[in-house]
Amino acid sequence: MAEEEIVLKGTKSIKEVVGRDQFVSKLGIIMATLGSAVGLGNIWKFPYQTGSNGGAAFILLYIISVLLIGIPVMVSELALGRTARANAVDTLKKLSPNKIPWWLVGAIGILSSFIIMAYYTEVAGWVMAYIFKSMGGGLLSTDPGVTSAAFTSLITQPVASLIWQAVDILLVTVIIVFGVSKGIENATKRLIPILLVLLLAVAIRSVTLPGSSQGIAFLLKPDFSKITAATILTAMGLAFFKLSIGMGVMITYGSYFRKDQDIPGTALQVAGSDLVIALLAGVAIFPAVFAYGFKPDAGASLLFNTIPAVFASMPLGNLFMVVFFILTYIASIGAQISLMEAVVTYIEEQFKLRRLWGSIITAVGMALVGSTAALSNSTLANFKILGLVPFDFFDVLSSNYLLPIGGFCLCIFVGWVWGKKNYLAAVTNEGALSNAWFSQALFYIIKFIAPVLVLVVLLNGLGVFHF
Ligand code: PHE
Repeated sequence: MAEEEIVLKGTKSIKEVVGRDQFVSKLGIIMATLGSAVGLGNIWKFPYQTGSNGGAAFILLYIISVLLIGIPVMVSELALGRTARANAVDTLKKLSPNKIPWWLVGAIGILSSFIIMAYYTEVAGWVMAYIFKSMGGGLLSTDPGVTSAAFTSLITQPVASLIWQAVDILLVTVIIVFGVSKGIENATKRLIPILLVLLLAVAIRSVTLPGSSQGIAFLLKPDFSKITAATILTAMGLAFFKLSIGMGVMITYGSYFRKDQDIPGTALQVAGSDLVIALLAGVAIFPAVFAYGFKPDAGASLLFNTIPAVFASMPLGNLFMVVFFILTYIASIGAQISLMEAVVTYIEEQFKLRRLWGSIITAVGMALVGSTAALSNSTLANFKILGLVPFDFFDVLSSNYLLPIGGFCLCIFVGWVWGKKNYLAAVTNEGALSNAWFSQALFYIIKFIAPVLVLVVLLNGLGVFHF
């Protein structure tokens, strides 16, 4: 504990004392971890998947997935990281007792983070562009045909797409360069409260519109007829993406946790708050969508095509539209820094580089690979990898293959290799916390239940069978 006290007294930086930067305060840890979970997933994926899959019934499936996969895997990753205090590859290397190359699981995770960043930065770039477009009144049309034409024109301009993405990567890199406590922790501690206030403002605007009650009913009244095996798999996949698990991000963040942090408690708080923020986004979106007679199930285009038209329909709509895109961008920042951090720490520790250089190399790599995603709707529209444009290829490769593979191997490693004794020692803080039965329950889920569920998601993603 001495390390934390020294920092709090401000005499030396944590890096000087323990040779590695880490989060300083307990609240900061929750904010940073929550910052990773909250992202475009809350404002974009969660609402559109809820919209296309039967509203509240889907939310229920999602909650079950979070309990049976999300929280157990998150706790495991955080515990592994904190025990080894290293990047995702070295964590697995340090903790594996035999010659089996378990570090590959960490490597797959880091690769997933890199690949997700390739397209995530592009979507974040579009959101940034939308902030300025909406400020200039350029999206103020109630006709989804017009707003979707505006979106098409944005994504088909190669130079604009590249520039927005580059600006986004630059911003994220600047936060990363400042380090774990001064960069990530500081930024997320400030951004999450701002995000909440803005989201609440839009949600209140939305529910006070005449005719909004249908939207609330849509979110709260389950329609079980929409549930199919495919819906269940979508909910499980969303739990992975939402909670940033299966890709080394939580291992990396865990390696910065304080020794006295309650890991299962943190995971519960983060998953719960993340769900509240996703629901709040739903409340900000659906009542307004219904109030003006738009379709809730527009799919991925809900954010960029439907939402501007919805805002354009309401009084003070332009103001709320600007606020909405600002908050969406803010939400994306915490997720992006966590994805980038997983890669930067690895590069830094593997090649013994200074943080600045690790960050620059990662940023340039992301910009280069990401540029193929940025150009997927223009210059590279005919450039297909396994039949997909780069943007879709990165999405499918990471969500359908790498994340479930990483998640599955991780469950096996924790449940069957690292084992119960090590696991319990880590998550109970060597017995200092009184969470023994909860920790035991989590362990059995990780050992027996989660791997089976993740395997089903994986086999479905691999096309072994399709629902
Ligand atoms: N959880 C983030 C979101 O919902 C996305 C993310 C995925 C972040 C994986 C980090 C790692 O947008």
